[in-house]
Amino acid sequence: MRTILLLQAFAALPSVLCTTSSKRGLVYVPSAKHPTDDNIWVQPGSDLTWYYNYGYEPSNPFTGSQMQFVPMLWGASDTSTGTPFLDSVKSQISGGANISYVLGFNEPDGQSSTGGSAIPADLAASTWIREIEPLRKLGVKLGAPAVTGSPSGFTWLQNFFTQCAGNCTPDFIPVHWYGNFEGMASHIGQVMGTYPNMTVWVTEYALPNADLITTETFYNQSSEYFDRMANITHYSYFGAFRSDVSNVGPNAAFLTQNGKLTDIGSWYLGGVATNNIPKGAAGKSALFAGWSLLVTAAAFWLFI
Ligand SMILES: *[C@@H]1O[C@H](CO)[C@@H](O)[C@H](O)[C@H]1NC(C)=O
Ligand SMILES: *[C@@H]1O[C@H](CO)[C@@H](O)[C@H](O)[C@H]1NC(C)=O
Ligand SMILES: *[C@@H]1O[C@H](CO)[C@@H](O)[C@H](O)[C@H]1NC(C)=O
Ligand SMILES: *[C@@H]1O[C@H](CO)[C@@H](O)[C@H](O)[C@H]1NC(C)=O
Repeated sequence: MRTILLLQAFAALPSVLCTTSSKRGLVYVPSAKHPTDDNIWVQPGSDLTWYYNYGYEPSNPFTGSQMQFVPMLWGASDTSTGTPFLDSVKSQISGGANISYVLGFNEPDGQSSTGGSAIPADLAASTWIREIEPLRKLGVKLGAPAVTGSPSGFTWLQNFFTQCAGNCTPDFIPVHWYGNFEGMASHIGQVMGTYPNMTVWVTEYALPNADLITTETFYNQSSEYFDRMANITHYSYFGAFRSDVSNVGPNAAFLTQNGKLTDIGSWYLGGVATNNIPKGAAGKSALFAGWSLLVTAAAFWLFI
């Protein structure tokens, strides 16, 4: 009897421990409409260790926080020949910032109507060689272009590496996924099989437009899987916004329409269920486009 009780006690431990993870980060653009939402992610006890905002420069509300900033070169333009991204990251480092990683292009195989940066592989390769590859010498780890989860992503990446002709050497490969858990695990398996020399970051993922229990089940299965897989080193769930503006459906959001943490939001930060039920905006059905669409206008001026 004693033994059985002891075993049960041990069996319960992992699920408690697994509710926090140092792999977790935040994909988030500070809220102009609800600036107090920015503070939620850096509250005491939050387990988030890193963040990105689709841009070069850190977000002001997170200055001095526990989250390490990861700069991103969102897109590329064929009229640009300078090195604004490289210069920015170098100056952040010389100013004392701890920059360990950078992220390459956001959904370059995707169209701008769905938030993609829509860059041809040859332009991406030449821009990478000029703006990103030199950071390797400074000890910064480089993230490959973050293609969409569709088959065109694999084709685009293959073309990118062909155009690079051996001059692009990413250390890790970001993955985006919008769909169910089985599809995501299979997709990540395919990415790892195709690029065995890189670790994986899942930098945008969610199950869009599902009911609450299905969404929470997806969230739990995904976290457990990412935490268990040694070669998945970082992940950032796509849900750090209010449910009434969510374009992945209200149940996927970290915040309710009133800015309170949902169960998923609280679990992601390492907390317990809040039982706050997210609601959508009445009569408004958002077209799914990834968060990047919201920041396209803001990001654009950064790379022209
Ligand atoms: C910089 O960040 C990395 C994690 O990405 C951490 O391991 C390292 O200790 C940090 N260095 C300093 C000086 O804070
Ligand atoms: C990883 O593999 C790709 C594709 O084969 C290659 O182009 C890239 O340079 C490799 N990365 C490193 C760090 O060797
Ligand atoms: C992935 O994991 C395997 C086994 O744990 C390891 O041998 C391999 O080096 C890892 N790959 C990378 C890119 O870290
Ligand atoms: C998800 O995990 C939490 C613990 O982290 C648990 O309380 C909850 O019941 C789980 N929900 C589902 C639907 O599996």
